[in-house]
Amino acid sequence: MDTLIPLINRLQDVTLSAGLPNVIDLPQIAVIGAQSSGKSSVLENIVGRDFLPRGTGIVTRRPLVLQLVHAKPGTAKTSSGQPAPAEEFGEFHHLPGKVFTDFGQIREEIIRDTDEKTRGDKGVSPLPIHLKIVSPNVLNLTLVDLPGMTKVPVGDQPSDIEAQIRNMCINYINRKNAIILAVTAANTDLANSDALNLARQVDPKGERTIGVLTKIDIMDKGTDVLDILAGKVVPLQLGYVPVVNRAQRDIDSAKSIRDALDFERRFFENHSSYSNRAQYCGTPFLTTKLNHILTHHIRVTMPELRAKIQQQLVIQRNRLTELGHSEHDASAMSSDAQGSNIILTLISDFCHEFRTILDGQS
Ligand code: GDP
Ligand code: NA
Ligand code: MG
Repeated sequence: MDTLIPLINRLQDVTLSAGLPNVIDLPQIAVIGAQSSGKSSVLENIVGRDFLPRGTGIVTRRPLVLQLVHAKPGTAKTSSGQPAPAEEFGEFHHLPGKVFTDFGQIREEIIRDTDEKTRGDKGVSPLPIHLKIVSPNVLNLTLVDLPGMTKVPVGDQPSDIEAQIRNMCINYINRKNAIILAVTAANTDLANSDALNLARQVDPKGERTIGVLTKIDIMDKGTDVLDILAGKVVPLQLGYVPVVNRAQRDIDSAKSIRDALDFERRFFENHSSYSNRAQYCGTPFLTTKLNHILTHHIRVTMPELRAKIQQQLVIQRNRLTELGHSEHDASAMSSDAQGSNIILTLISDFCHEFRTILDGQS
């Protein structure tokens, strides 16, 4: 069961290495919402570590594709097959062979590479950053953090920044295999939620959208989200999860995520509106729910994925034949053929793995 998400992560690595990132529509969770609605905070709580650039204004300016890989202590290996230097570490696709054990440095690298690919202004770029985090404390998940939706360009931002960000979000949530994590601050009106309005455009029946309600702690006294949770406001088939993240002053005072999760748990357990449903509130419940939804979703899309991969195998094999080579004769190949051969090897190795795992499932 829990081999499915790692399998898809492997497929993501394979398609990236093969230079075919958009050929196969991979099941993943895309996080959308208005700027400052709390998207990055939700992701950090899910990971349990501080590693994302954050603050007021537009901080997330490129898609961040985040693979969370669960590994038991002592079993983790780096992408190059070495024993991991620590229980928790990160690796970027654009820095092969470099292993980050300091999560502050992961944040600095996200900022550095974002600036580099957006030429340092406040602009956005659709070019994704691929980050893998391996830890005994995460559940297997693949999440995409997207720039927040904004209305008014600031500073030297291009005047069409709103459209650029919308298009970038649409590009991810449009894919039928994407689960949409629509983040809305609970102290704003759900009817005006940027996240839900955008999600509705691609998922009108609300079949693959999960609502996350942040900032429950700063709602007006005497108000709550019970009507929303009951599906009486904007119904979603996958439902809503209310969460409490760190406030800006908690971040400024370096409150740890552990303390924040503790605060969140006590908040829901002691709140008169939520105490009888506290187990369905908060980050741990959200994380488990996402893991189940993604696993189920992968299982459903498996036959289609398998067909797509097989199709790629045929395409690459034919390409090699057209270039006048056979698969197992790597000598004296043109560089085109070598490229094709590498892709073919990657995909056929993966097919093998795929079959082994699927057979193990049934
Ligand atoms: P993003 O722009 O959607 O990624 O939002 P961030 O995660 O960067 O959060 C924006 C601001 O809202 C930060 O100052 C956070 O500390 C604050 N914030 C996020 N979630 C919550 C929450 O649940 N409660 C409170 N009080 N503040 C929050
Ligand atoms: Na922000
Ligand atoms: Mg953000």
